[in-house]
Amino acid sequence: MRMVDLIRKKRTGEEMTEPEIRYVVDGVVSGTIPDYQIAAWAMAVCFTGMTAAETARLTMAMANSGDVVDLSAIRGVKVDKHSTGGVGDKTTLILAPMVAACGVPVAKMSGRGLGHTGGTIDKLEAIAGFRTELSREAFFSQVNEIGVSVIGQSGNIAPADKKLYALRDVTGTVDSIPLIASSVMSKKIAAGADAILLDVKFGSGAFMKTAEEAIELAKAMVAIGTEVGRNTVAAITDMDQPLGRLIGNALEVREAIEILRGEGPADLRELCLELGSHMLVLGGRAGDAAEAREKLEQAIASGEALRKLGRLIAAQGGDPAVAERPELLPQAAARVTVAAAADGYVHGIDAEEIGVAAMRLGAGRAAKDDEIDYAVGIELLAKRGDRVRRGDAIAILHARADDGAAAEAREQVLGAYAFGAEPPAAQPLVYAVVSKDGVRR
Ligand code: URA
Repeated sequence: MRMVDLIRKKRTGEEMTEPEIRYVVDGVVSGTIPDYQIAAWAMAVCFTGMTAAETARLTMAMANSGDVVDLSAIRGVKVDKHSTGGVGDKTTLILAPMVAACGVPVAKMSGRGLGHTGGTIDKLEAIAGFRTELSREAFFSQVNEIGVSVIGQSGNIAPADKKLYALRDVTGTVDSIPLIASSVMSKKIAAGADAILLDVKFGSGAFMKTAEEAIELAKAMVAIGTEVGRNTVAAITDMDQPLGRLIGNALEVREAIEILRGEGPADLRELCLELGSHMLVLGGRAGDAAEAREKLEQAIASGEALRKLGRLIAAQGGDPAVAERPELLPQAAARVTVAAAADGYVHGIDAEEIGVAAMRLGAGRAAKDDEIDYAVGIELLAKRGDRVRRGDAIAILHARADDGAAAEAREQVLGAYAFGAEPPAAQPLVYAVVSKDGVRR
């Protein structure tokens, strides 16, 4: 086989066979196919797409390119959850203890943040002492013992995707539904879960800018999961403004604790109940969404979900007192107020701009090896639909003392807000649910 022939074949939109896909994936991993040919092939995929069968072949070849985790040592139906990325998205910190409290075992491998989106592992490491690297045996026995563990993703999960993604990132070939779908699903399948819940975001802070594009991506991922025997459901959710009110590592842990206490912002609570319901149904712990929601609400009201978070923190070496007293988390030295420049209603908050502003304050990484500051971040006081007057505080920056970056971040946060004279049209948080049975709007 010659790569040049496969590039030509893909350029004219022909379907690639399994051995051909495997040839490309093997060549990516071994380095025998040069980057320029892989990039040309990825560009051809961007233009001509892939059939469902071809996308499934690419997914499985990438999933099998490294470690494939066998979770069978853990009892019960293991349900994984994946978000396509957002700003202020701390749902894993809430869902993991909450669904574990309802009997679904959570053996979760998560990633670090890069660029404007945060990563669950960085957020957990804001808790002093919390260990995110456990041996496989310790990981399994913790889930069997307390029902939940969240660790960093092993370096050798889907290495083909890692290399291909790095190349796509610098060759303008990220935005292709078959490439994104196979990238996400290859990692989920290699991570070993029996069932997969996807939170596919759309809006200013997401890869997919419209709900319809997000539905297309979700359909591709559900089709892959169905093809390879992993029950997969996708919720299509709004990322036209950051989720919740707090952005930044320790701040997001704080907000997760608020939700587990039965407090916190309504949008975040609602999304967690929606996603958690799907997880309970997928995990066989509830017959339908209504029963699942009742169980989740009960786990919050009884304090069981919060206690589960405390047990998770203790089991992984952190101070469990944080779950009861979030003020023990790192706190930034300075507060900088962002004030509204005019009267009006908040129509939107560009999530990507807020994510970049948080990164500037030190909450995220511009490059892979950058150090992050757990204490800093952004608190959004006004969200879509709120009415503000000129001079009102709409956000507070949690910054380092004497930080020159705070002035720039303040301008950026202000610029991220869009105002209008009339209240904005209502926008649902969950736009649709995609499963093997179709799209429910
Ligand atoms: N997230 C992924 O894991 N892969 C993509 O291609 C895009 C988003």
